[in-house]
Amino acid sequence: MRFTNSVVGLVLTMTMVACGESEKEDTAVEVAPEFLALTAALESQCTGCHGTSGDLSLAAADVVAETVDVESSGDATYMRVVCGDPDSSALYLKLFDPAPFFDPMPKNGTADQETIDAIYAWIDAGCPE
Ligand code: HEC
Repeated sequence: MRFTNSVVGLVLTMTMVACGESEKEDTAVEVAPEFLALTAALESQCTGCHGTSGDLSLAAADVVAETVDVESSGDATYMRVVCGDPDSSALYLKLFDPAPFFDPMPKNGTADQETIDAIYAWIDAGCPE
């Protein structure tokens, strides 16, 4: 009887430890909702042209490295993204006509309000990932 109790106790303890660990893992892979909305918007309207090749990749795996604190290749007086300041970021400003240089984005199309909002919110929130 004493043996059974200690086995049950051991199994319970192990279960609790295992639960604790899986909660930690969940926290580690948490992605900011602003980043999820941003990458969904870019996928729907932008990555068809700005895919993994070319000068500007807006794919989820590349967008931070390719935009944050990077000068625009079309006009180096504009940064692609200044975190916390959408109104100084070409990624946002290019969604409107007239665009700061060359064509408004998406080229030959119109940005959805959802895309405009998602890009604004991500930059405004300080570019969380
Ligand atoms: C039909 C193809 C096409 C689509 C779709 C498109 N782009 Fe572009 N984009 C271009 C081309 C071509 C350029 C270079 C000429 C220019 O700057 O206008 C460019 C340039 C840019 C630049 C300036 C980059 C730099 O460093 O100079 C930004 C920012 C940009 N696009 C963002 C976007 C966003 C955001 C979307 C989606 C809302 C989008 N683009 C959709 C073709 C496209």
